[in-house]
Amino acid sequence: MKRKGFTTLLLVSLLAFLLVFTSACGTKSTGEKKSEDVIKIGVNLELSGNVASFGQSALNGFTLALDEINAAGGINGKKLEIIKYDNKSDNTEAASVATRLITQDKVPIIFGAVTSGNTMAFINIAEANKVPVLTATATNPDVTVDPKTGKVREYVFRTCFIDPFQGTAMAKFATEELKVKRAAILKDNTSPYSVGLAKFFTEGFKAGGGEVVADENFTVNDQDFRSVLTKIKSLNPDFIYVPAYYEQVGQIVKQAREMGINVAFGGSDGWDSPKLIEIAGKDALKNCYITNHYSPDRDDPKVKEFVKKYKEKYGNVPDALAALGYDTGYVLAAALKNAKEITPEAIKDALKNVKDVEGVTGKISIDEQHNAKKGLVILEFVDGKQTYRKFVEP
Ligand code: PHE
Repeated sequence: MKRKGFTTLLLVSLLAFLLVFTSACGTKSTGEKKSEDVIKIGVNLELSGNVASFGQSALNGFTLALDEINAAGGINGKKLEIIKYDNKSDNTEAASVATRLITQDKVPIIFGAVTSGNTMAFINIAEANKVPVLTATATNPDVTVDPKTGKVREYVFRTCFIDPFQGTAMAKFATEELKVKRAAILKDNTSPYSVGLAKFFTEGFKAGGGEVVADENFTVNDQDFRSVLTKIKSLNPDFIYVPAYYEQVGQIVKQAREMGINVAFGGSDGWDSPKLIEIAGKDALKNCYITNHYSPDRDDPKVKEFVKKYKEKYGNVPDALAALGYDTGYVLAAALKNAKEITPEAIKDALKNVKDVEGVTGKISIDEQHNAKKGLVILEFVDGKQTYRKFVEP
């Protein structure tokens, strides 16, 4: 009797154990458990094409941050997994990459793109599918606010400052420190970034008492700028503002110097690439100033530590894109930690509430317009090297 009772107990417990065990195995064998253990992060970046150095740097910085976050245990036990595609620095590609990430890979968030134009090319797709987009670098104001309605785009966020700040900061620096009065502008009129910055610079420069003596255009595939530079030269400016990307900027500055145009050039974050020095040469870059997001030379332990780790992993000094990519990894981690669940909707809600993430490009809080209010640096090219000139408060 006693023995029989014991056997029944043994059998019941064995059965119970088997039940639990097989159900656990059930999830494992379908492979579900694995996908439950990771959070997929969609990446849509310019890894080839005419701004390839931007995408590569941003990806390096972002990957470094995610590796650190995973090494420290991930997000509530889940590891972050990057699913990345190259948008080839092209609007149409950027849109199809977004569609692929959303419909095939079913990512709950997309990181990218670098440029304002490539980001704008897919934000409608993301909004329609209610999947949040987080860009580290796209600075045109229309990226997060729809200019037609004036409404904030519910699913689009960024971790950088915006172009009204960048454009007017250069206007003020040119007026007050370089003491110039007659500016010429040369912009890429196919790029919303370039067009926007030209406008913000013009407003700031005029407000400071300066005159814009030329406002000239080029398009993204142009290589020869001699005729437009001849026209600009004839108008006798004492400053030339070129809010554009390094491939064209390099040619413009090089050709201008060859033509004897020796006035100061002003530029923007789009100049930030090691390729610029290769294309223009360091002598041509003398007397050139840009606005940017960060300087690796800043005397801040956080910056020093980042530069050291980045150099160890990739072998070069991180540019602003790498720094922004890195900071954005931590902004994403902060949002994922606070998200009620790992769904596009909950991640979007958590992104709205990101506060005081200490980054290498400054302290990041997402404001009502889904932007980050941060200071900028003005850098001067000295011997081909971006050299810190001053910090401008937000
Ligand atoms: N701000 C640029 C844009 O909106 C991208 C960029 C950011 C380029 C930082 C270089 C450095 O297109």
